[in-house]
Amino acid sequence: MQLDQVIQTRRSIRNFKPDPVSDEAISDILEAARLAASGSNIQPWRFVVIKSQEIKEKLKGATRWRFALKAPVIIACCSNLLAADGRPDRLVELTQAGVFDNVEMDGEYSPPEKNREQLLAYLNMNVGIAITHMMLKAVDLGLGTCWIGGFDPLKTKEILALDDNLHIVALLPIGYPERVPAQRPRFPLEKLIIKTV
Ligand SMILES: Cc1cc2nc3c(=O)[nH]c(=O)nc-3n(C[C@H](O)[C@H](O)[C@H](O)COP(=O)(O)O)c2cc1C
Repeated sequence: MQLDQVIQTRRSIRNFKPDPVSDEAISDILEAARLAASGSNIQPWRFVVIKSQEIKEKLKGATRWRFALKAPVIIACCSNLLAADGRPDRLVELTQAGVFDNVEMDGEYSPPEKNREQLLAYLNMNVGIAITHMMLKAVDLGLGTCWIGGFDPLKTKEILALDDNLHIVALLPIGYPERVPAQRPRFPLEKLIIKTV
């Protein structure tokens, strides 16, 4: 599918067919996440692929969004809270790969996050980019997704038995859409452009 068509036809899908999603499709979707951009290439995204009916049942205690639990697959998209610790190594890799050769820059590098709150926001922003890749790749494969932000992160983390260094950013149900709804309302472009300076 052309990128324009993918972007234009993506919708949040809230009704899924029970048809299974192949491992190959899941792998293609995760690969799209893997290739996302991240600050200093720290790649903080981590994923739990949920197929188990037992886990989906347990997740009823962690989200009101029942439709999401009816999807054949749900991906719990997480931030690795330790990812920024790997920044020096990532920067060495990038340097060795020639990324900064002949690149004009000035001044010393300064990490964007100054405290834990800023770190979490920074990591989650990066994970959000990977999630968007996944949502668009799913459309390319004829699948639908819906970003679920409405869930209890601590309960979900416990159900999924995740390490302390993982923070769940979103649940992403994936399945074949029962129907593709009309495009959702959007602000006109004029409202979004503050000014051209
Ligand atoms: C950060 C974020 C959190 C969201 N959380 C939920 C959610 O908990 N439940 C839900 O049904 N949709 C959720 N959505 C989907 C939005 O409601 C949806 O993207 C918006 O209404 C626009 O519709 P569209 O995605 O079909 O264009 C979320 C989307 C984003 C980006």
